[in-house]
Amino acid sequence: MTGVNLAIVGTGLVGSAFIRQLAGYLQKNANVSYNVVLIARSKKTLASKDYSPISLDNWEKQVNESSEGAWNVDQILSYLEKSPKPVVLIDNTSNETLAQSYAKFAAKAISIATPNKKAFSSEVSLWNDIFGAAQKSGALVYHEATVGAGLPVISTLNDLINTGDKVIKIEGIVSGTLSYIFNEFSTVSGSNVKFSDVVNKAKELGYTEPDPREDLNGLDVARKVTILSRLSGYNVESPSSFPVESLIPKPLESVAEVPEFMEKLPQYDGDLDKIRKEAEAEKKVLRYVGKVDLSGGNKSVKVGIEKYDASHPFASLKGSDNVISIQTERYPNPLIIQGAGAGAEVTAAGVLADVLKVAPRL
Ligand SMILES: NC(=O)c1ccc[n+]([C@@H]2O[C@H](COP(=O)([O-])OP(=O)(O)OC[C@H]3O[C@@H](n4cnc5c(N)ncnc54)[C@H](OP(=O)(O)O)[C@@H]3O)[C@@H](O)[C@H]2O)c1
Repeated sequence: MTGVNLAIVGTGLVGSAFIRQLAGYLQKNANVSYNVVLIARSKKTLASKDYSPISLDNWEKQVNESSEGAWNVDQILSYLEKSPKPVVLIDNTSNETLAQSYAKFAAKAISIATPNKKAFSSEVSLWNDIFGAAQKSGALVYHEATVGAGLPVISTLNDLINTGDKVIKIEGIVSGTLSYIFNEFSTVSGSNVKFSDVVNKAKELGYTEPDPREDLNGLDVARKVTILSRLSGYNVESPSSFPVESLIPKPLESVAEVPEFMEKLPQYDGDLDKIRKEAEAEKKVLRYVGKVDLSGGNKSVKVGIEKYDASHPFASLKGSDNVISIQTERYPNPLIIQGAGAGAEVTAAGVLADVLKVAPRL
């Protein structure tokens, strides 16, 4: 039996870039037998009858014209478990139900490649269920793009740990949105710009979620740090089990509408301005970081604003880049991974790189 069947769920920004990149890879590598047998989006499913390959030339038209509506998890599972060839499920959605079901797929020896961080950053029991099921069945579960998009963060961390290294500390700016906001708000040469003005600009540029509070509450960073911590061997219970500093002023947490929130945000500019002034007096800048500290006996994880010297690599970060600093026993001077941490092309490349690592091993 040769070849691997691929099932792609989610054809949005990342999903469509993934299909384009996969088609390019298959064109250049005619000897490889990876067949796409399922493509699904929220209201349409295209699944080939006898697991024959779906042509990627006009996939969009085929999906949209499919008479098959949305499949639930059990329908997808039932179709994939009968595949005559090994299968990789590529989850390019942010769907919670699908993420909560990875263990079911893994138990049926269906491998997974995904940028969807929901499953890996929920309760630790789900993490244990997924990787436990995978270990038993031989399924491979790869999720490089859940932290730092296409940057080689998770693969690097896994390589270090699998070869016997030990993590001492990880620090990272892992939200593109908060990277942009703090790179603008607090600069080495000093800045007077108001925090609310920077948030407004980030929103206009499309860097924030439609409701910027989803970025400012720190949960996205907490989820990514949860993943980094678990990979480093410290199994935090959930993203709410450690301190996360929210940037949303308390009285604005309950404001119902986004326009009202944006209108009232300037009233609280003084709070962050004060912290910035204190940092400037010490010749430091502010950055919003996630930290995993496994040095000594006290393991700790936290997310929030930190001050960095002007000479620190985090201080000179540009645009919305991510940066992750990994200090280990072998790398007492931290290993630093930096670059674009969001965007459909780099994220899709991270997912495709996972698929190209998984598929030949099945
Ligand atoms: N964009 C980035 O820069 C980036 C970076 C890192 C990680 N990620 C992660 O990548 C994933 C995809 O992001 P995206 O930006 O591509 O999102 P998106 O543009 O909103 O696309 C989501 C896709 O999922 C589909 N979908 C949603 N629920 C579904 C369901 N129940 N069954 C089947 N399909 C379903 C949607 O269907 P319709 O097309 O019918 O709406 C859509 O095609 C997310 O987990 C995100 O967190 C994204």
